[in-house]
Amino acid sequence: RRCEQVRNFSIIAHVDHGKSTLADRLLELTGAIKKGGKEQYLDKLQVERERGITVKAQTASLVYRYKGTEYLLNLIDTPGHVDFSYEVSRSLAACQGALLLVDAAQGIQAQTLANFYLAFDQDLAIVPVLNKVDLPAAEPETVAEQMHQVFDIPPEECLLTSAKTGLGLESILPAVIERIPPPPGNTAGPLRVLLFDAFHDEYRGVICLVEIIDGHLRKGDRVVASSTGDTYDILEVGIMTPEPTSTGRLCTGQVGYVITGMKSTRSARVGDTWHLLKQPVEILPGFKPTKSMVFAGVFPITGADFDALAAAMERLTLNDASVTVRRENSAALGAGFRCGFLGLLHMEVFHQRLEQEHGANVITTTPTVPYSIEHTDGSREEIQNPSQFPLGKKLSGVWEPTVAATVVTPSEHVGSIMELFQDRRGEMTEHTVLSPARTLLRYVLPLAELGGNFYDSLKSITSGYASFDYEEGELRKADLVRLDLLLNGEVVDALARIVHRDKAQRIGAAMCEAMKEKMGRQQFEVIIQAAANSKIVARETLKAFRKNVLAKCYGGDVSRKRKLLEKQKEGKKRMRRVGSVDIPQDVFHALIKS
Ligand code: GTP
Repeated sequence: RRCEQVRNFSIIAHVDHGKSTLADRLLELTGAIKKGGKEQYLDKLQVERERGITVKAQTASLVYRYKGTEYLLNLIDTPGHVDFSYEVSRSLAACQGALLLVDAAQGIQAQTLANFYLAFDQDLAIVPVLNKVDLPAAEPETVAEQMHQVFDIPPEECLLTSAKTGLGLESILPAVIERIPPPPGNTAGPLRVLLFDAFHDEYRGVICLVEIIDGHLRKGDRVVASSTGDTYDILEVGIMTPEPTSTGRLCTGQVGYVITGMKSTRSARVGDTWHLLKQPVEILPGFKPTKSMVFAGVFPITGADFDALAAAMERLTLNDASVTVRRENSAALGAGFRCGFLGLLHMEVFHQRLEQEHGANVITTTPTVPYSIEHTDGSREEIQNPSQFPLGKKLSGVWEPTVAATVVTPSEHVGSIMELFQDRRGEMTEHTVLSPARTLLRYVLPLAELGGNFYDSLKSITSGYASFDYEEGELRKADLVRLDLLLNGEVVDALARIVHRDKAQRIGAAMCEAMKEKMGRQQFEVIIQAAANSKIVARETLKAFRKNVLAKCYGGDVSRKRKLLEKQKEGKKRMRRVGSVDIPQDVFHALIKS
């Protein structure tokens, strides 16, 4: 198959605009999967099914006849959520074009903009598709006009489809063939391969997804990974249809999979260039390394489960090399790990996968962003755990990461959104009216302010009608302090956080109150305090009380009595002792959430 008969493309869209549904329909249309089979073939992880979002990009090769010629169309699915935008830009690097899918009832949303610019930056051919035209609320003409205003796309270029009813679907693949250029590679050139993704398969080990930039790759070839110099034998090579199907070779421009006997996905440096042994080539630009933007401690519910947790972490990170993991010890929670994630959703997904796919029962501490502190001697240090924030020492400054945020909202909510962002220390940078009823706002906002119910607040003030997206911004100097929670004068290290000075009192008081309410009375009086940079800013007192589990148990039912005493003992086991105070496990959960 020559390059001219290959097309590599992605579908990019705001979440829920129908990307996975459309991908399924295209797979059916070309006979890659059966009609009426299980929904959303390309969404494979359980968490993806439950949350209805795509986390990991998947690939499928479709064979399609058009005007008498057979084409190989490689569809590379991409996640819609901003936390996974590294997956998006990675997948786009293997493409020459993208379907830009927009819900015809909702119009352009925040992620439509973000994804469009990712594709635009990589010079991809863009095929605009207005989906869900079957909905009564669909307004394809208005949305086509928005596409013109925002992206300079001529309205007549927009395809109209319904992935649900099948309307207009037949127009998509011809447009892919005609509007997206074939891959530009040199078929005669020495082999040059782009590694753009890798995942771990329980039975077959590491499977690498590659695009052949120049030359051909055959089973039995010996390749060199240019980033490490390591050599690998190509044991198997083929295309995803969407199951891996061995073809023995991949030609210039093709996208497919390779098995090399690699042990861990960590050896598969995504963005790497491979070449044949003794035939070096010019190295491809590669990808920007991913950076952890959210850190949290992950601890077993009971100390005894540490080994099981360690094993689960090991298995899960085999498949998600974007999570960083270090051992960590906490006085309150014992031995655990400090993990770095790409964002809050990434963290939640990781937590959920740990529990669901690996049966681990864990506590995740309050997420924190990486802060940069400057000491008086001018040296800088990155703080990934609030309890590392130095106390009682003068600092030249503290910098925090910010994001450039985009909101698209019905115009009537602009006022309340402005209030929300102001409360979150945001600075407005743009205010554009998209259409009479819709407004686009851009803000610079501290990344840390996206935690603590930000999404819920945004959702509730706009009844879920605003969309939100962000990209990494610069570091910004801020007046930040370390907020500690103390029990009878002892700091609970796992609950420390870094907050803005103006908010320290408010947050500290809320933490003390939540602690008092959740903890239940103890055998003796407990003083709960919050301290900002060691200065007490809030206080609660928990009165002593002896819990008598037998009080309500009149008379002599011995077995019932024993049961209750057992239960009380059981309850004690789930306590963590901090100094002289027992803290029930769910207090951590409650405070971390507060
Ligand atoms: P992510 O994979 O998480 O990015 O979402 P997505 O963009 O893939 O959306 P998905 O395909 O999961 O579709 C979201 C919802 O819209 C589902 O409930 C689909 O059934 C529905 N949907 C998709 N296409 C259409 C359409 O053309 N018409 C109507 N009425 N509903 C559609």
